[in-house]
Amino acid sequence: MEIIIQPNPQAATDIATRLIARLLKEKPDAVLGLATGSTPLRLYRSLIAMQLDWRRVRTFNLDEYLGLAPDHPQSYHHFMWENLFRHINILPENVQIPDGLAADVPGFCADYEARIRAAGGIDLQVLGIGSDGHIGFNEPTSSLASRTRIKTLTQRTREDNARFFACAEEVPTHVITMGIGTIMEARTNLLLAFGEHKAQAVAGAVEGAVSAMNPASALQFHRDTRLMLDEAAAGGLQRAEYYRWVYANKPKWQQV
Ligand code: F6R
Repeated sequence: MEIIIQPNPQAATDIATRLIARLLKEKPDAVLGLATGSTPLRLYRSLIAMQLDWRRVRTFNLDEYLGLAPDHPQSYHHFMWENLFRHINILPENVQIPDGLAADVPGFCADYEARIRAAGGIDLQVLGIGSDGHIGFNEPTSSLASRTRIKTLTQRTREDNARFFACAEEVPTHVITMGIGTIMEARTNLLLAFGEHKAQAVAGAVEGAVSAMNPASALQFHRDTRLMLDEAAAGGLQRAEYYRWVYANKPKWQQV
């Protein structure tokens, strides 16, 4: 894992933006895995401002609420089109987001996995992290080998996400999410985390034991995972000084 600690969320986002821009230049038909929520909003704004060429880029989103139609204002379809896709030249047929209205959920999930494989796998997956350590919507105790499937949200996640809805009861109880096994197959994972409320989950993921109780800790087994943190999210890390030193002293060829 590479732990990059920056003074604020924008500085951390700028590094993630540069990495993605570089990938799209080197590989114009790259396959990106995308996340929703508050964390990647700055990233999407920065990518839009760069006016990159997205015509050949393919994207797969991590998750979607079950029961919400694509045009529901709180659906992740709506989120992605509002906050990224409608501002860039991506082709709608190259955008994949789990279908919250899928009639046959297991069949849809198996097909989603097949579509990721057919696209050649995910080159770079953007991740946020829940205050309970979830990645995608893989809540604590999710199998570390899980694939795309239905999951039940914890009460804590529903409360965390209630800010987007009129009240906590309106937050759907079920979702379709890529599994931890699916995320582990992405060639690169970029996990962004900002704010004190993420500090405990981040510390567990980086310095704790690998455990399904903190699903992000599975990334310790991933070959190329980079965490971009602000100071507050890094607040629980015991080895923060070491990570800062490593980043400040990277050989030139490794710098982004
Ligand atoms: C969203 C997702 C979730 C979020 C996480 C953090 O597609 O997969 O894992 O990344 O819940 O959400 P925010 O960024 O709103 O704190």
